[in-house]
Amino acid sequence: MFGRKKKVAAVPRKIPVNLGIIMDGNGRWAKKRGLPRQAGHVTGAQVFRKITKYCQKCGVQYLTVYAFSTENWRRPQEEVDAIMNLLRQYLKESLADFQQENIRTRFIGDRTALDEDIRLLMEEAERTTAHKDGMTLNIALNYGGQQEITAAARKLAEKVAAGEISPSAIDEAMLEGALYTEDQPPVDLILRPSGEYRLSNFLIWQSAYAEYVFMDVLWPDFKEADLDRAFEEYARRDRRFGGV
Ligand code: FPP
Repeated sequence: MFGRKKKVAAVPRKIPVNLGIIMDGNGRWAKKRGLPRQAGHVTGAQVFRKITKYCQKCGVQYLTVYAFSTENWRRPQEEVDAIMNLLRQYLKESLADFQQENIRTRFIGDRTALDEDIRLLMEEAERTTAHKDGMTLNIALNYGGQQEITAAARKLAEKVAAGEISPSAIDEAMLEGALYTEDQPPVDLILRPSGEYRLSNFLIWQSAYAEYVFMDVLWPDFKEADLDRAFEEYARRDRRFGGV
């Protein structure tokens, strides 16, 4: 009827069990303000902390954030150093925080190229949170999906060469078990802010049946309400996993 407010059916709240976030747009956020790109990463790191806590509060069980890709080494050394320093700072400050939060922290990616002090801090963070049974936070660092699958294939090839398994025993489950995320469920939702519509080599195996939500907001401007909007969009999706 005219004049009446159209009723919009309420979408039930549905939270993804496993969420991946590509924290994109830090550089553009800084540029818009006439600041060096590093300033965008500083604010981006603060937003990362806030959103991680909010994900835990909402009931997300696995959260993976893309902090540094295998391709990010191509950036100016100054910017790479700034991101690594933010990570150092985050790890040092969070080691105390970790005791209070019920978050299990893990790192995925190739650690061999990282500085030794960072590697030790990463190991300490993993060790001190290993017993937590709340949300699992994966920080993807020097991570690339293609590199991850290649490393998994190499691991299985070594087992074949050692006579531990036969090539015919290799199936999807075995390959999945050789990934960094070995014991985790598949990704339900990939969220990418900043207006880019790409996966950028992020969790390419794990997100085979994931939903994607792309948002126009730049990561340093990302708020809890943006995550709520993404979850609402996710709740509207009809996931069929190849069925009907
Ligand atoms: C992408 O934005 C962001 C990164 C490559 C770095 C992300 C790092 C952080 C948020 C801080 C450190 C992380 C932790 C876990 C403490 P971009 O630089 O590609 O932005 P642009 O596309 O606008 O240039």
